[in-house]
Amino acid sequence: MKKWISILTSVIAVSVFASCWSAAASGADGSAEVKEGIDYLVLVNKLHGLPDGWENRLETVTLTNSVGDDVEVEAKAYDAYEQLRTDLEENDGIFIELDSARRTIAEQQEIMESFIEQYGAEYAAKTVAQPGLSEHHTGLALDLYFKLKNDDGGFTDIYYNDDMVQYPEIWEKIHAKLADYGFILRYLEGKEHITGYGYEPWHIRYIDDAEAAKDIMAQEGMTLEVWLGAVTDTDPEIDFGSSSLYTEEQLKEAAVRIKCDFANWEGCELHSLRYAGDACSSEENLDWLNSLDEKAGYTRAAEFLMDFHSPAEPYGAWEKDSEYKDYQMWLGLTKDGEWEIVTWGY
Ligand code: DAL
Ligand code: ZN
Repeated sequence: MKKWISILTSVIAVSVFASCWSAAASGADGSAEVKEGIDYLVLVNKLHGLPDGWENRLETVTLTNSVGDDVEVEAKAYDAYEQLRTDLEENDGIFIELDSARRTIAEQQEIMESFIEQYGAEYAAKTVAQPGLSEHHTGLALDLYFKLKNDDGGFTDIYYNDDMVQYPEIWEKIHAKLADYGFILRYLEGKEHITGYGYEPWHIRYIDDAEAAKDIMAQEGMTLEVWLGAVTDTDPEIDFGSSSLYTEEQLKEAAVRIKCDFANWEGCELHSLRYAGDACSSEENLDWLNSLDEKAGYTRAAEFLMDFHSPAEPYGAWEKDSEYKDYQMWLGLTKDGEWEIVTWGY
């Protein structure tokens, strides 16, 4: 990652240069080749990789930020970012900068490796996308940071994630203007079961449609996944009961894991989710889960029970339009402390 110094004092970097290639390039025979455009509503997440041939259709601009790093951005997203930046500077006295935008797969790999080294594999998996599955590959995802103006006229960069989250009032003002320029906030608080990641106030996404962006941003908790109809988000009642085996944090992680999986159960609506109790985490049940997936080597077992409604129209093996009660979800805890759903059913 480029964040090698926590807070830097700097002056505004003015060096901006373009490295975009033109939309109509010349073919080998001299004929004009018209580039196919990109899909600005593309969904790239843990389940959807970068579409084939994306790089060939991408036009980018490269700018140098206030800490001297070159940042490559999709060309239209760059123009929109510049308008957002100017608006915030002139009307709110907020000075945003770009930390990172388009990343190659090799760059994402480097970030992943550095996060694993610094924070461990578990934290890295929760915060950094696997190479090939990062929205940053599109050039449409932008990580912001901002500068605070000092009394002497210079600027202090607020650059590290831990520092940036200390300024919710600044993020609120930035987020309020995103949609005007065709951007949305991508990783919302409490939506990790849909997006795959926790809250990232700095990660914005260009969708090239201010009206659509306004529609998304106006609905509390609306994610691109749900807005595009790729998954269904339901907000179940959750009962963790009591446990002497698991911390609340571990049970919450397990619930997120289940909600994340459930979001892809087409047409189903999750009503409630409850921890089935420590008795279900017996050695016998652990052996059973390990016999279902011999390579996994689970260290512990846990059971959750769900009530959910099946799709109104016939779908797969579900009874249509029915309430399923006490449906079992069995999870195994891996050696890395990650929950995996091993089996489910009655
Ligand atoms: N931090 C976001 C999820 C990424 O690595 O793409
Ligand atoms: Zn990001």
